[in-house]
Amino acid sequence: MKAQVKAQVKAQGTANAQRQFDPVAGHPTPQVAFADVTLDLGGKTIIENLSLGVQPAEFLCIVGASGCGKTTALRLAAGLYQPTRGKVTFDGQPMREPRREIAIVFQDYGKALLPWRTAAGNVSLALEAGGMPAAERPARIEELLRTVGLPGHAGKYPAEMSGGMQQRLQIARCLAQEPKTLLMDEPFGALDAMTRQGLQDEVLSLVAASGVTVIFVTHDLDEAIYLGDRVIGLLPHPGRIGIELPVNLPRPRDQLSTREHPEFLRLRRQLFDFIKATEQ
Ligand SMILES: Nc1ncnc2c1ncn2[C@@H]1O[C@H](COP(=O)(O)OP(=O)(O)O)[C@@H](O)[C@H]1O
Ligand SMILES: [Mg+2]
Repeated sequence: MKAQVKAQVKAQGTANAQRQFDPVAGHPTPQVAFADVTLDLGGKTIIENLSLGVQPAEFLCIVGASGCGKTTALRLAAGLYQPTRGKVTFDGQPMREPRREIAIVFQDYGKALLPWRTAAGNVSLALEAGGMPAAERPARIEELLRTVGLPGHAGKYPAEMSGGMQQRLQIARCLAQEPKTLLMDEPFGALDAMTRQGLQDEVLSLVAASGVTVIFVTHDLDEAIYLGDRVIGLLPHPGRIGIELPVNLPRPRDQLSTREHPEFLRLRRQLFDFIKATEQ
């Protein structure tokens, strides 16, 4: 992915158009797969019989009411929980523990970043963990900070940065890990609307350039449709799939024209009705 992230810096404007995930083409092995997964925690069934395949380079969004099991599903995908029944696999291999190919972006960037390390230091952490020699790190750090729109901020501490900048930094740190799959848990939930839209577009560009697979959790239905190749809605108690919608909207997506597209409005209506019904 390294070379591709480099290319991304040049291709920022057009990258979104180049990415062509074709759900019909099919891949023999999904990158992330849940096979009939049930998870019990504290004597309660949190996730029940969840079956789901996420294809390489797919952008899958998961929506659902608060407490329906979205974060738990991501933790299963990351290998942070082991299923009570069923199997979670990555590239066909059972997920027994977290792996470097899977990076997680949390909503709470404040807790995800080390406050005593500068922006460069935080990104460096992932490079150190990956065994990159010290001499090669500064150039790579600079490149990653540029990729997420933070050039010239290498020496700043998280506390000196806005929420949007801190979330960008967390994304840079995840990219430093060169993941095959990026798990994002309501990453923009704490940001204002304008910052949020800017970051949505940046994530689409990054993803287009790197070919990374994304599982993105949000409770913002518009955000899910805007970003995704597919949106899954979970039903609560226990968490299970209630609706699955392919998003056949052209890429590159655009904050104005995509959101006005009749297909966008149709999907939005369908998802909205689904969520409303789950809350009754
Ligand atoms: N470690 C745990 N032990 C017991 N129950 C849990 C645990 N983690 C989450 N839950 C419960 O599982 C359900 C789903 O939680 P979560 O995945 O965080 O939902 P979401 O992210 O959709 O808001 C909630 O009812 C929550 O209280
Ligand atoms: Mg959650």
